[in-house]
Amino acid sequence: MSVDYDDLAKRIAALTEGETDEVALMATLACEIHHADDRFDWTGFYRVTEPELLKIGPYQGGHGCLVIPFSRGVCGAAAREGRTQVVPDVEAFPGHIACASSTRSELVIPVHAQRGIIAVLDIDSDQPDAFTEEDAAALEAILKDVFGHL
Ligand code: SME
Repeated sequence: MSVDYDDLAKRIAALTEGETDEVALMATLACEIHHADDRFDWTGFYRVTEPELLKIGPYQGGHGCLVIPFSRGVCGAAAREGRTQVVPDVEAFPGHIACASSTRSELVIPVHAQRGIIAVLDIDSDQPDAFTEEDAAALEAILKDVFGHL
C-alpha cells in the first residue's frame, strides 16, 4: 500500500481542524502518516525542548531513542540546518543513530512554526532508498498546513 497524499492531507486537515495543542497534533499526524504507507516502519516526532536538544514526541513503531542533540544523527542535521534530509542509505550517513537495526533509509523534515523550528518529523524505512522528493514535498506541505500558523 502506497500513500495517496491528497487523501492523507484532506484527512489530516479534517481531523486537526481547530486544534492548536502541539502534542495532540503530532500524535494525530504520527498515527495517520504511519498507517498510510507500508514503507513507513517508524514514524514520529522529536521536539525541540531546549536549545540544541531534541526529545522524543508522539510516535508509532518500536522504541525510539529519548534524546538527540542537534549535533547528532539525521534528526539533529535536519534541526540544525532547518532543511529536510532524505537519506537513501543510513549506513552512509555520518553519525546516523540506529534506534532500530532494521532501518535502511530515512526521511527527516523540520517542523516550522511561527516561533521557529519546534520539532522534526522522522520517518524510517526497513527498505533501502525508500523515500522520494515527492514524499518530502508532500509531507512538508502537510506540516506547513498544520503547524505553520502556530
Ligand atoms: N535515526 C535517527 C534517530 C531516531 S530513530 O531512528 C527513531 C537519527 O539518526 O537521527
